[in-house]
Amino acid sequence: MTQTRPRILVTRRLPPLVEETLQRHFDATLNLADQPLGEAGLREALATCDGLLCTLTDELHAGLFEGYAGPCRILANFGVGVNHIAVEAARRAGLEVTNTPGVLTECTADLTMALILMTVRRIGEGERLLREGRWTGWAPTGLLGHRLSDRTLGIVGFGRIGQAVARRAAAGFGMRVVGWGPRRPAAESLERLGVAWAGSLEELLGEADVVSLHCPLTSETRGLINRERLGRMRADAVLVNTARGEIVEAAALIAALQSGELAGAGLDVYWDEPEVPAELVQLPGVVLLPHLGSATVETRTDMGLRAVKNLRAFFRGEVPPDPVR
Ligand code: GLV
Repeated sequence: MTQTRPRILVTRRLPPLVEETLQRHFDATLNLADQPLGEAGLREALATCDGLLCTLTDELHAGLFEGYAGPCRILANFGVGVNHIAVEAARRAGLEVTNTPGVLTECTADLTMALILMTVRRIGEGERLLREGRWTGWAPTGLLGHRLSDRTLGIVGFGRIGQAVARRAAAGFGMRVVGWGPRRPAAESLERLGVAWAGSLEELLGEADVVSLHCPLTSETRGLINRERLGRMRADAVLVNTARGEIVEAAALIAALQSGELAGAGLDVYWDEPEVPAELVQLPGVVLLPHLGSATVETRTDMGLRAVKNLRAFFRGEVPPDPVR
């Protein structure tokens, strides 16, 4: 007797090993054109598949799940952030939601360090200078940045990625590290990491030379870094964001950078990707990357295999390893 395999629709291209694994275990429909499905495509997908392997370019808003009576039972997200999914609405409609925590921690922390180095040591400016043929040679006072080991790094959101950045910054670069988040870790873990804990977000913002954001985007963190909080930061400080654009108020950030209230920013994420505000592109002290946090062959493969693991467990009738509640 042949058993029908669950129909999985994959919303974007994934690394080869992931697509092969999906095809081995499921009746998988791949997105060979790699074009985001959009609203109509997502509706159609939800009407025809048993499971959707989705990612952050899929806007799975609550309207898609109102009165939903289709066959789809699970949204297996490729990625850790689930702010693009109306999780409660999906769950109310009977769908399980999973993500891929853990596997992208190290790469995202590496990229954060890259942005810290690029902003504090003016690497972006230097590279542009050279490529544009404006470099006139070495000079004792040319393009001076700051010594990382003299700087304080403030980490906002002290989960897996925040802690991985703290480890690199303290042990690898000799930075003083201050953390803040809704859950204060045990004193021994802070001690082991060499991290001081700030009494409040405001205190951290006032102390840090570099503020790096590592919280998820939720209703509590949307606009967390607003005009008032940017005003608490030192004028020679930089803001680094590898989390989600909407954690920072765009207009307030642009105004603070333009007025010199804030020295620079290193951004990997934006408010309406792939749009990047033109004002930011014009500012020399701002480094702009195209959402590369987890972009390595190894990590993107691990993320995909993790999503497959969640799908396989779910369709075997087990609780998947990474449910999002
Ligand atoms: C990437 O930004 C993710 O949420 O995994």
